[in-house]
Amino acid sequence: MLSTSTRQGLRLASRISRSTPPRVLNLYARASTSAPNSSSQPPPEPRTASFGFRTVPEDAKESMVKEVFDSVASNYDLMNDATSFGVHRLWKDSFVSSLRPGRKGPMKCIDVAGGTGDIALRILDHARETYADRETTVDIADINAEMLKEGFRRFKKTMYHNTPQIAFHEANAQEMSAFPDNTYDLYTIAFGIRNCTSIPAVLKEAHRILKPGGTFACLEFSRVGNPLLSTLYDQYSFSVIPLMGTVLAGDRDSYQYLVESIRKFPPQAEFAQMIREAGFATGKDEDGGAWTDYWGGIASVHKAVKL
Ligand SMILES: C[S@@+](CC[C@H](N)C(=O)[O-])C[C@H]1O[C@@H](n2cnc3c(N)ncnc32)[C@H](O)[C@@H]1O
Repeated sequence: MLSTSTRQGLRLASRISRSTPPRVLNLYARASTSAPNSSSQPPPEPRTASFGFRTVPEDAKESMVKEVFDSVASNYDLMNDATSFGVHRLWKDSFVSSLRPGRKGPMKCIDVAGGTGDIALRILDHARETYADRETTVDIADINAEMLKEGFRRFKKTMYHNTPQIAFHEANAQEMSAFPDNTYDLYTIAFGIRNCTSIPAVLKEAHRILKPGGTFACLEFSRVGNPLLSTLYDQYSFSVIPLMGTVLAGDRDSYQYLVESIRKFPPQAEFAQMIREAGFATGKDEDGGAWTDYWGGIASVHKAVKL
């Protein structure tokens, strides 16, 4: 739960959440609205989702993911730096500078699953430092109040705090009804979409809230093409990362989940196809087209345009 002072702060900083206070998510809505079983029909198969390598009831995944990020929120930056040797910072820098926010004038941006504000801060810095733009805005949306709290704390140390350039919203990427249609020039999501129960639902909402001509940009762990690099990467991630979780954060399970969830995420071409199915236009199905691989595919950036 957010403390009262942080909740007030979030509310102050938020332009949308003033009119639409954070919603309480009903994780079991599907179960309670389903039709009663008739005696002649077998009960429907429960819908499932992957939670790392486990298969769990679809309705339970959201709260399980929330527990993971509640647990890692306070150590999130330290663990990101330790497990990636700081490389996540370079990837985030490249991701944001490739989007050139501010180049064509002030933009209205949303960073979904924006957690600790890493991407939002880079967008605002890039626009200001490269194009002297102090009017670009970023809405940070995340399902997890603890992660938002970390982001809010970080922004308090910056020049953007208490300005119209930044706002925080507690929201589920799959259901963004508080955000109107055709609103944003740029939608970013970094290392977030693989944690969502339904990727198509996230993409559908991204498409809805972007303006025609707006850009969807996703940075996510992906599939390594080179077999040798893939084996080394597997060994590193399955042995070292959960161990670091234990030593640095006292939390092996959350880091085990994070590694497993990376392997469950669709490969580059499959994800590009899902993006097109949501109504976006992409480049060709190749590195440098619909996506750009970082470090042989350890991470990958997918970009697409709403026509
Ligand atoms: C690995 S963190 C990434 C944070 C940040 N984007 C970054 O790059 O450092 C994943 C984030 O996704 C958020 N998240 C998970 N499921 C979500 C959902 N359904 N809707 C919105 N955010 C979600 C988590 O709360 C967490 O903050």
